[in-house]
Amino acid sequence: MSGFDAGWLALREPFDLAARAASAPLLDWPALAARLRSGLDAGAALHVLDLGCGTGASLRALAPRLGGRQHWRLLDHDPALLAALPQALSSWAVAQGCCVATGGEGMAIDGEHLQLTVAWQRADLADLAGVAAIDGAQLVTASALLDLVSTAWLEALVARCRAAGAAVGWSLSVDDRLQWQLADGADALVHAHFRAHQRRDKGFGPALGGGAVAEAARFLQRAGYRVVTAPSDWQVDGERSRADLAMLREMVEGMAAAAVEQAPEAASAVQAWRQRRQARLASTRLQVGHTDLLAWL
Ligand SMILES: C[S@@+](CC[C@H](N)C(=O)[O-])C[C@H]1O[C@@H](n2cnc3c(N)ncnc32)[C@H](O)[C@@H]1O
Repeated sequence: MSGFDAGWLALREPFDLAARAASAPLLDWPALAARLRSGLDAGAALHVLDLGCGTGASLRALAPRLGGRQHWRLLDHDPALLAALPQALSSWAVAQGCCVATGGEGMAIDGEHLQLTVAWQRADLADLAGVAAIDGAQLVTASALLDLVSTAWLEALVARCRAAGAAVGWSLSVDDRLQWQLADGADALVHAHFRAHQRRDKGFGPALGGGAVAEAARFLQRAGYRVVTAPSDWQVDGERSRADLAMLREMVEGMAAAAVEQAPEAASAVQAWRQRRQARLASTRLQVGHTDLLAWL
């Protein structure tokens, strides 16, 4: 879970989808799409820019909620994730009953309620000034990205979105809530080091970690946006499925590795926690707090 390989993104995607479903009643994506389309010529595509797209999970989650004609631009700096993206998108589209045409760094997806053109491109978002695509977007999305970025970067992103007149939908940002059942006496210790690790520099300056959404809401409101947030927590239950067990295993390994890297002096306590947690995955439940945010002008 420390890296962003395609296997990890595929493992988390069903948990992300369930979490997005939990936030959906409070975040009205169809109403946002209608609002944005009211400023477009009839039949024009809604332009959506997804930052840190990975293999395209935001598009898969949000395009059906936005509906109709959409043009998506997907940006990421990881060539391996971008290489996995066309297959991930086309499998999803076919499963939705859509027709797919692929060519180069693009794809057209055509279905009864959805007509998408998609273009993906390698880009380092750390240099936000070089991300010209923000200027043409009506909606700027990102999922599981905001907690990686710094205050200065986020402030600059909000300014760019405001200048473009774009709405924003930033999903699945961690918000520091973590709850295990059953609890372990070393949970608090591991969590503290894990959270501190999340605030290390991830390439954008000191990361906001669990403070990202509050900071984003502050910047957006100051820029004149209406902001709505809603919890989008992962619910992982070791009694439920093999996917849950795999997720719990990854979470325990990832949290332990991050905690040891952050606080080598705590290594023996963290490794003992890791062993206890791995030994009882099948009777463990974990809730990981995330927050989704939607904002418009
Ligand atoms: C946690 S993953 C989320 C991926 C995808 N949005 C999802 O929800 O599955 C974070 C993504 O941000 C991308 N990323 C991190 N730093 C980046 C940078 N400096 N420029 C572009 N993309 C970056 C990673 O490659 C990765 O795809």
